[in-house]
Amino acid sequence: MDRKRTGLRSCAQVSTLICLLVALRAEDDDRGGWSLHSDIKLHDEGPCTIDVLDSSSLSHQQFLERYAYSGPVILRGLTDNTKFRFLCSKSSLLEEYGDRKVRLSTANTYSYRKVDIPFQEYVDVLLRPQSADALGSDTLYFFGDNNFTEWQSLFEHYEPPPYVLPHTSGAYSFGIAGPGTGVPFHWHGPGYSEVIYGRKRWFLYPPDKEPHFHPNRTTLSWVTDTYPYLPEDEAPLECTIRPGEVLYFPDRWWHATLNLDTSVFISTFLG
Ligand SMILES: *[C@@H]1O[C@H](CO)[C@@H](O)[C@H](O)[C@H]1NC(C)=O
Ligand SMILES: *[C@@H]1O[C@H](CO)[C@@H](O)[C@H](O)[C@H]1NC(C)=O
Repeated sequence: MDRKRTGLRSCAQVSTLICLLVALRAEDDDRGGWSLHSDIKLHDEGPCTIDVLDSSSLSHQQFLERYAYSGPVILRGLTDNTKFRFLCSKSSLLEEYGDRKVRLSTANTYSYRKVDIPFQEYVDVLLRPQSADALGSDTLYFFGDNNFTEWQSLFEHYEPPPYVLPHTSGAYSFGIAGPGTGVPFHWHGPGYSEVIYGRKRWFLYPPDKEPHFHPNRTTLSWVTDTYPYLPEDEAPLECTIRPGEVLYFPDRWWHATLNLDTSVFISTFLG
């Protein structure tokens, strides 16, 4: 992203078409080939009302005392996943896993329907922007349900956030989805989520503050139809995360997500 900004800034000075093309290529490279040249552009990252801390300013012990059991936090620079990121580029994933089947779920709260299709077909046919009027229960989405035997050779290169909770172990959930997609409000155990490519906007509520939402509607429709009219005391905690940042969510916190770009993401559930 920084490269793109730098590129565009120097374009203003040089002002040639070639310069712009170079800047756009740089943007493509930054996204590992995952950018969709679509009409949907979700620019609204929203406010960030969650603590964002540099990992060097929060020790594991401080994390356990201040956040682990009480609230979400976003940590920067906790791990270096350069290698994993490289392996998650579109060309690399398609080459390695294109023929493998992936299990898709509907993007509604209770994920009713599951469909198995080849990864290549998911990328070619289903990986596209979410239309505003589609129902979550009609949208097939690749998130989690990974066959660990098949994806082990990729996951072994992922360095998970080191701040674990006592007496838990981590389980991964890996996915890729288009702009405008996301999972509506739900809750489960504690964990981390990070984006490898793209941006993901997060909305969270504490366990005792169940938000109003329809389980079959998408997060996009909640953001458009409900979010703007929420009274101040019903506002969620929210922030948009980018590569290099991990979001921690505590046990049983309600959360919903919205991918602002085509996003490659991985969660670590601590159970
Ligand atoms: C996972 O992949 C392996 C190897 O391809 C296969 O034998 C196994 O049946 C798959 N497991 C599930 C639950 O699909
Ligand atoms: C959500 O969609 C599923 C599948 O179409 C349906 O079975 C279920 O009744 C719906 N739930 C609500 C609350 O509308």
